[in-house]
Amino acid sequence: MMIQQAMQALENVMLDSVASDVKTLHDASRHILEAGGKRVRPRLMLLTYLACGGTAVENVLSAAAAVELVHTASVVHDDINDHGVVRRGRPSVNALWGRTFALLTGDFLFTKVYELMAPYKDLNVILSEATVALVEGETLQASAVKENNFSRQVYYDIISRKTAALFRSAAHMGAALAGAGEATIEALRLYGFNVGLAFQIIDDVLDLTADSEQLGKTSGIDLQQGRGYAVAYAGNGETKTQAAVAEQPTDPLTAIKAKMLSRKAIEEAYTQANMLRAAAVASLDVLPESPYKDALVDLARLVVERDH
Ligand code: IPE
Ligand code: IPE
Ligand code: MG
Repeated sequence: MMIQQAMQALENVMLDSVASDVKTLHDASRHILEAGGKRVRPRLMLLTYLACGGTAVENVLSAAAAVELVHTASVVHDDINDHGVVRRGRPSVNALWGRTFALLTGDFLFTKVYELMAPYKDLNVILSEATVALVEGETLQASAVKENNFSRQVYYDIISRKTAALFRSAAHMGAALAGAGEATIEALRLYGFNVGLAFQIIDDVLDLTADSEQLGKTSGIDLQQGRGYAVAYAGNGETKTQAAVAEQPTDPLTAIKAKMLSRKAIEEAYTQANMLRAAAVASLDVLPESPYKDALVDLARLVVERDH
């Protein structure tokens, strides 16, 4: 099965998995899944598997579906917290069904992961570590906003947990399922982690520079929630507190925006993302040459060069 076929098969595994006779869960799950999305995490897992010499992609599909459902559950819940009304080019689940059903739909997607992961024994621990980290990251972020405590270090801790950990687990599972040795698994974990960090940094830049139509999701919400700091602290070593910026005579939000939108801050974020991409690509040295390895190099590039 080639990668395109595998990605198509993945869609069916996910849709089958969320079938339910409880109409709201069934409909809301299909709504968010059929909206598409980049599917970057399962693609990363499948490519890692193939690049490590795996030949039976069908054995990886349920794990890849599990990773995408964890991610999808997280954005359904994230839109409740962030008051996002557009997701994947459609009204968000909370916008259409309200907060209660969005909460339950996210729960439903998270719990479906147990079923999908049942065949994978020890790899359950790997995915659960990532899922725990994701929840910790979202919680640390909410606390940092509440306490006005954003620094470069806090920012990296948050994005490591909320985003990069799931990318790392995808790479780990792909490599492990292909029968890779410990050193190769470790190298690919690092690849996934660094790609994930770069992915989130670019996501934070795009949130400030692209409109909702381009992104297919509510844009600028991060800024309103105090997370515009993301960009500033992705790029440099400054540790100004939000309060210090807010002391400026202008409206704090405008001041933050001006700072975030400065070309320098954005350039620095791109510099940082490109360094992470280079580190990710260097980790792939452990792999033999193959079209799948090339595709992993390309994936790291696209994560940084994307415009949505
Ligand atoms: C959005 O992830 C949340 C972040 C971690 C930045 P994606 O940009 O992968 O979302 P979809 O799946 O393509 O909608
Ligand atoms: C999305 O985070 C959820 C997780 C990464 C767990 P963000 O709030 O940064 O992403 P968007 O911009 O809503 O997609
Ligand atoms: Mg959000």
